[in-house]
Amino acid sequence: MRVLFVTSEAHPLVKTGGLADVAGALPLALGRLGVDARILMPAYAGLLDRVEVTGPALNLGDVLPNVRARLIPARDPEGSRSLLLVDCPALFERPGGPYLDEHGHDWPDNFLRFGLLGRVGAMVGAQGALPDWTPDVVHASDWQAGLTPAYLRLLGARRPATVFTVHNLHYQGIFGREVLPMLGLPDSMFSIEGLEFYGHVSYLKAGLYYSRFLTTVSPTYAREIQTQMGGEGLHGLLSNRAPTLQGILNGVDMDDWNPASDPHIAAPFSAEDLSGKAVCKAALQREMGLAERPDAPLFGVVSRFVEQKGIDLALSVISTIVDSGGQIVILGSGDPGLEWHVRGAAGALPGSVAAHIGYDEGLSHRIQAGCDALLVPSRFEPCGLTQLYAMRYGTVPVVRRTGGLADTVTDVDEARGGTGLVFDHPDPGDLIQAVHRAVALYQDSEAWRATMLTGMGLDHSWDRVAREYLGLYGEVIHAD
Ligand code: ADP
Ligand code: GLC
Repeated sequence: MRVLFVTSEAHPLVKTGGLADVAGALPLALGRLGVDARILMPAYAGLLDRVEVTGPALNLGDVLPNVRARLIPARDPEGSRSLLLVDCPALFERPGGPYLDEHGHDWPDNFLRFGLLGRVGAMVGAQGALPDWTPDVVHASDWQAGLTPAYLRLLGARRPATVFTVHNLHYQGIFGREVLPMLGLPDSMFSIEGLEFYGHVSYLKAGLYYSRFLTTVSPTYAREIQTQMGGEGLHGLLSNRAPTLQGILNGVDMDDWNPASDPHIAAPFSAEDLSGKAVCKAALQREMGLAERPDAPLFGVVSRFVEQKGIDLALSVISTIVDSGGQIVILGSGDPGLEWHVRGAAGALPGSVAAHIGYDEGLSHRIQAGCDALLVPSRFEPCGLTQLYAMRYGTVPVVRRTGGLADTVTDVDEARGGTGLVFDHPDPGDLIQAVHRAVALYQDSEAWRATMLTGMGLDHSWDRVAREYLGLYGEVIHAD
C-alpha cells in the first residue's frame, strides 16, 4: 500500500508541537508494516541542507497562478523517512518559523504557502506528478494540509482515498474570500456545502468536508468536537460525519523517548533499575539552579504557552507547590504575557521555581527524566504527548480530564493501577487539590513507586497505533 502524508511539520526536521512527532513517527511505523509511506512537506529555509536528496528535482511549473514550484525527493539522514519537499524559495526560504515570522506574527501569505502545499498534495495524489509513484491513500493533517482533499475533489481522474486528521480543531486557517482566485479554486466551492465558514474560506473545513474519512487523535476528543462546547463552530459538520469519524490515540516513539538509552539525560534508567532517575533529578536541579533536594517533589511543565495549555493555571499553583516543600521547572514559549509571568515567578522564588523560555528539545527530555510529576492542566487537549512521555520516564502526570489526557491517564484514587492525578475543572481550586493529592502520594514512597511503574509499563508504541491506521486505510480504499 502507498500512502502520501501531507503535513506542515515532521520531527526531527521541523517541529513546533505534537503534529511533528506524529508525522515523523507514524510513517516510519507504517513502513515497518510494509507500507510505502512518503511525507510531503514544504522545503523550509535550510531544510535541504539537512536531508539527503535522493533524486532529481521535478519541475511542477505554475502550481498556482504565478507560483512555480519544484518537488524534491529526499530522505532524512536519521530515520530514513522518504520525503517529498515542496521547493518554492519565494514562499518558504525565509527566517522565522513555519507559520510565524521572527516577531511571532503569522506570515501574511500563509494562505498561499499552505495553498501550495495542498495543491502539490493533490498533484502527487492524483495527477501523476511523480510518474512512478501514485498513492492509494492521501492522509492530510490539520488546516495547513486542508486544501489537499479540496483540490483532489476538483480532479476528475482516478482519485486516491482521502483521510484527514484533526490534531487541533482550534487552528482553522481562515482567510478572506478574495484568496480563492489566487488559489485557483472555483467560486462554487465557496458554499456551506464546501469550504465556506461564516463568510470566509476555512482550510480546516475544506479538509473536513472533502475527505472521505476523518480521524482525530483520541476517542474522547472525537466526541468532544461533536458538541457545541468543543466543536469550535464545526460541531454540526462533525456530528453529521460521525459514522466516518474515528478517534485514534497517538503513540510514543519508543526510540526517541527511551530513558534507558536517551542521549540527552544524565543517567539511563528503566523500570528494572530506577537509580538513574535520582541522578537525572539532581542534574536537572543543578542545571536549572534549583536547590539540590532529593526529597522535594519536583514538578515540571513542557508546553507551548497558549490559552489551550492552562499555563495560567500552572502559575496559580506555584505557591501551593512551594509551600508543600516542592519545586517546579517550566519550559516553554509563546504568549509574551505568559512568558513574562513565568519569568517573574522564577525570579521571585529562586531555588524553588525555575524557567527556561524557549524551545529546547534536550531540556524537554531532561525535564521528563528528572521530574517527579508533570503538570498538564490543559483546557482542551486533542491527545497530548507530554503526559505519555512522562509516564514512560516514571514521571507521574497531573492532568485535566479532557480529550486524550482523559483517555491516557487513570487517577490513582479512582481505580487500582492508576497512573496519575486527574482533575475535572480548569480552575485553580481543582488543580490545587490535585497537587495536594500528588504531594501526599509522593510522601508515600511505595505507592508513588507503584504509580511510576504502572505508567512505565504501558504500551503506547506506534507499532500498535500504525496497525489501526492500516486497518482504516484498507476500509477507506474499499469504500471508495
Ligand atoms: P501540542 O502539539 O499541542 O503542542 P503535544 O503534547 O501533543 O502538544 O506535543 C508537544 C510536543 O512539543 C512534545 O513533543 C513536547 O515535548 C514538545 N514541546 C513543547 N514545548 C516545548 C519546548 N519549549 N521545548 C521543547 N519541546 C517542547
Ligand atoms: C495537537 C494537539 C495535541 C496532540 C498533537 C499531536 O498539537 O494540541 O493534543 O497531541 O496535535 O496529535
